[in-house]
Amino acid sequence: MDRAVRPAVEPVDLAAAEDFLRLFYAEVSPSVPYEVRLAAVRAEIDATGTYEHSADELLFGARVAWRNSARCIGRLYWNSLHVRDRRSVSAGPDVALECVRHLAESTRDGSIRSSITIFAPDSPVRLGPRIHNEQLIRYAGYRQPDGTVLGDPRTVDLTAEAEAAGWRRPATPGRFDVLPLVVTGADRVTGVHEIPDDVVLEVPISHPEHPWFDELGLRWHAVPVISDMALEIGGVRYPAAPFNGYYMGSEIGARNLADTDRYDMLPAIAAGLGLDTRSVRTLWRDRALVELVRAVHHSFDSAGVSLTDHHTESERFLMHVRREERAGRRCPADWSWIVPPISGGTTSVFHRYYDAPDPDARPAFLPPFGRR
Ligand code: ARG
Repeated sequence: MDRAVRPAVEPVDLAAAEDFLRLFYAEVSPSVPYEVRLAAVRAEIDATGTYEHSADELLFGARVAWRNSARCIGRLYWNSLHVRDRRSVSAGPDVALECVRHLAESTRDGSIRSSITIFAPDSPVRLGPRIHNEQLIRYAGYRQPDGTVLGDPRTVDLTAEAEAAGWRRPATPGRFDVLPLVVTGADRVTGVHEIPDDVVLEVPISHPEHPWFDELGLRWHAVPVISDMALEIGGVRYPAAPFNGYYMGSEIGARNLADTDRYDMLPAIAAGLGLDTRSVRTLWRDRALVELVRAVHHSFDSAGVSLTDHHTESERFLMHVRREERAGRRCPADWSWIVPPISGGTTSVFHRYYDAPDPDARPAFLPPFGRR
C-alpha cells in the first residue's frame, strides 16, 4: 500500500471522545452546551478522522491524566499543572527548542513549577513528533572496554543512539554529561539537539556533617521531565508531551545514586563513614542510604531548589486520596510505586492498600514505546 494514502493512525474512536467530553462536562462548566460540543466533535471526526481539543479541554485532560497516574505519590496538586499548548509544533528542531523553553520556564531558578508541554498529536494523516529520551535531562552512560559503565548505566542505549544520530561526546567524558535530545519530527526525520547549559540546573551533593562527601563528586539535575510517555485524551494521542514535577529526595538518594545498576554509590559512602561492610547484617547499606538521602535533602535545600521528602509526600498523598473520595472519585494507586524506597514502614502510605490501577483509565499517560 502506498505510504501516502495509508492512515498514520486509525480515526479517533467516537466513544472515547464522548467519554472524555462527558467527564469534562461533569467536572467543568464550559459555556458551550454539551450537546452542541458533542455534535461538533462527531462532525469533525466524521470529516477528518480526528478533532481538535479546545484549550480548556486540553488543560483539563492533561491534569486528569496526572490524577489518573496510579504510580505517582505527588498527585495532590494535579489541578494546578501548568499546561504549555504547543500543538502547532511538530518539526524536530522546533520540538527541541520548546523543550529547552519548558526547562527554563519550569525550573525558575529552583522554584520548580509542575508543567507539561503538549506537541502535535497523531492524526490519520500524520504522526506527531516523538522524543526518544526518557527524560529531557539525562546523564550519558558510556560502556567501557572492560564492560563497566562510565556515567548512568540506565542510559547506555540512549547514549549509543545519540552518538549514532551524530552526537559527539565531550573530549573527556564524565559521569554527569547531559545527553542531547533525540527527536523524531512529524516528517519522521530524527535529529540530535544539544541542551544549552543555562537551562540545566544541577545541584552538587554535599553532606551537612561530612565534608568528605564533596569528594565523591556527586550531583543531580533539579528537574525530572518525563518525555517518553504519550498523553491520551478523548481518543487523541499526543506522542510528545513532556511533563515535570519536582523531585522527592529518595528518588535521587535511594535509587539513582544508590541502586547497584545505577550509580552504585553505597560502598563508597560506607567506606567514608567507616562502616563495617563485611556482613550485610551490620546494615551498612541501610546506614549509607540514609546519609545519602540526607545529603540530597541538605544540598537541594542549600541550593534553594524545590525538593520534597517521603514523609511529607506520604501525608500529602493520603490527603489527596481523602479529597478524591470526598469528590466521589476512586483513587487507584500502585502500592509498589507509592511506598518510598527507604523507610517504607515509617510512612503512612505503607500501612494500607489502594484501589487497583485501571489500565483503561483515560485521560492517561501511556507507557513508552517499547518500555516498562
Ligand atoms: N524517578 C525518576 C528519576 O529519578 C523521576 C520520576 C518522576 N519524579 C517526580 N518527582 N516527578 O529521575
